[in-house]
Amino acid sequence: MTQTSQSQNRSFIGQPMNRIDGPLKVSGRATYAYEQPHGEPLYGVLLGASIGKGRIARLSVAAAEATPGVHLVMTHRNAPAQAPFGEPTVRPGVQRPRPVVFQPEVRYFDEPVALVVAESFEIARAATEQIEIEYREAGGTFSLDDAREAIYAPAMANAGLATDSVLGDPDGAFAAAPVKFDQTYTNAFEHHAPMEPHAAHAIWDGDQVTIYTSAQTPAQIKDGVSNTLQIPPENVRVISPFIGGGFGSKLIAHAEIISAVLAARMLNRPVKVALTRQQMFANAGHRPMFEQRFRIAADTGGRLISFSHDSLCTTSRFEEFAEQAATAYRSMYEAPNRATRHRLAPLDINRGEWMRAPGEAPGLLAGECAIDELAEQLGIDPIEFRIRNEPERDPERDVPFSTRGLVQCMREGAQRFGWNRRVAKPASVMEGRKLIGIGMSAAIRPNLIGPGACRVMIHADGRLTVELDMTDIGTGTYTILAQIAADSMGLPIDRVGVALGDTRFPKTSGSGGSWGSGSTGAALHDACRLLKEQITTAARAMSNSPLFGANAENALFSGSRVTIGDRSAALTEILTVVAPKGLSAEGKVERGQALKDFSQHTYGAHFAEVSVDADTGEIRLRRMLGVFAAGRILNPKTARSQIIGGMIWGVGAALMEEGGLDPRYGNFLYSDLANYHVPVQADIQDIDAVFLDEYDDKSNVFGSKGIGELGICGAGAALANAVYNATGSRIRSFPITVEKVL
Ligand code: MOS
Repeated sequence: MTQTSQSQNRSFIGQPMNRIDGPLKVSGRATYAYEQPHGEPLYGVLLGASIGKGRIARLSVAAAEATPGVHLVMTHRNAPAQAPFGEPTVRPGVQRPRPVVFQPEVRYFDEPVALVVAESFEIARAATEQIEIEYREAGGTFSLDDAREAIYAPAMANAGLATDSVLGDPDGAFAAAPVKFDQTYTNAFEHHAPMEPHAAHAIWDGDQVTIYTSAQTPAQIKDGVSNTLQIPPENVRVISPFIGGGFGSKLIAHAEIISAVLAARMLNRPVKVALTRQQMFANAGHRPMFEQRFRIAADTGGRLISFSHDSLCTTSRFEEFAEQAATAYRSMYEAPNRATRHRLAPLDINRGEWMRAPGEAPGLLAGECAIDELAEQLGIDPIEFRIRNEPERDPERDVPFSTRGLVQCMREGAQRFGWNRRVAKPASVMEGRKLIGIGMSAAIRPNLIGPGACRVMIHADGRLTVELDMTDIGTGTYTILAQIAADSMGLPIDRVGVALGDTRFPKTSGSGGSWGSGSTGAALHDACRLLKEQITTAARAMSNSPLFGANAENALFSGSRVTIGDRSAALTEILTVVAPKGLSAEGKVERGQALKDFSQHTYGAHFAEVSVDADTGEIRLRRMLGVFAAGRILNPKTARSQIIGGMIWGVGAALMEEGGLDPRYGNFLYSDLANYHVPVQADIQDIDAVFLDEYDDKSNVFGSKGIGELGICGAGAALANAVYNATGSRIRSFPITVEKVL
């Protein structure tokens, strides 16, 4: 008789489990960075520069300092020494020193020039208004047009990717081809707007500082602080148990973190600093503005002859960010002649930063419209056109695909969405005064595995604790890692506790690049393997163990029991005698090696139906479907939520999100959620995401791949193509707002 219950035997991986942390979040018991109740904190408020470029000519802080309740006014005059910022191209830029209020020079509009620390947030904010500053302005470059003379080729694009790639003779082939397409697409700046704005709470104890902050990658924040303050990394601890959304802006240490740490040390009191929503627009990175030119040639049968993608994007003059917009097409369609190029236009703004699917998101937004345009020019259905140009092997690297589910995604999506009901001739379908259109697009995103470690501890009562510095940015990490641990150890899931987001735990690559669960899950699996070996060895060897002397080769951990050959005992029975104090093991995952030998990606196909009001131009999304091939799905519920979130970002990029830079002053014009529009519940009526059954054994032990950034990839193009199908007008500047439609 075994005591094993059904639920204990079931496999948790692959189940649509609810989030373990859900109840804490919805009941307000999950504490975010600014809410952490430690010490008696003071409150810091940053004051930003009101010019785009120049220097502080006169500064008076006397009135601010004299304000009752103010403890510190930190400016470049009294800020502690910090490491220099360094050259624009320092790599890797994630760990570079990021000094704050360190010089009278102003490099971008709203760059912090002072930090006021006071008894309350309100006092600090009021005192910032008492600071008198006169600036001497210098001429800055605040528009892409003004930067054209300074356009340059970076040494490499982001993530160490090559700046250019060329195969064959794309220009010659283009010139000689029977069917040609040559268009340029632009998109506006996009800004980060997570629910939880950036915040930090710094507490010093001797030479040790603890920072509660909203971080995707605690280890990178720790390194950034250590490098900026020139203190040993082991003196810095970063804690981020809950994060209210992280989409790239929380990968590195920004001004709120550095300034809180500096002020807390100067005052010997805990200090909290948060960026306001408005301050986030200039101080938390943004997606650059792009001009992307596609020159594509085909034969009359719809086979591509030549494919060139030229990406020009804005960057900061003081820090390079070369978003890799043209890299997606290096693996996308077959064409014998091909080229991709990245160029940068330096402006006097803060640099762009990673923003959900950096590279692929803007690249596919434009490119999947170009493919749609050329398909129409050829008179071929856009799905059929893509299928005709489906590569057998990676078209730029001489390697096979690990998996390639694109065609299947398009076919499955077409069938589910009712693609055959689409009328190819644009502006053909009307319902009342509404023009109706359907569009589709394809998606591709590289699969990455980041290095990391994970610790597991089994206690004598059979509970398992999992520790790693990985974060849950709302994606379901707590839940997915618990599922993996429960399956690995053969335990019920409620016997597993997952602790995340603390740099005292083993280091991981954190939440970024879509590598989170695929990488840390593999490290956890490895840790469990080592732990099981320890338990098995002890259980066999110790004479008081119920499994003493068991000599079958394999041990099976299932239903809270360990079985070796025909002998079996409860895990707790074994542990009580062989390890009353418990056992622990640390596992690891290496950087993904298969990427060298395989072209390894996730794929998808998006379908959208829109209505366009014939009188007002208002575009409404009526239906949207994404079908994805992304390896094994570890938790279909969290995966679906995450990927739908990404698709909604695509809706924002296509229709709403519009950062504007004032070409006179260099300030971002729209710096709150009233002016910077993102899709809200009322904009998203009917949306669904479906995953195909897939397993990629080149990725990790689970056959899973990263999905975090796949949802946005290509999503916006499906809407843009639907708008064209509805109206007959091709709008090549994103977002597609009302005035462009009319
Ligand atoms: Mo991502 S843009 O690496 O958070």
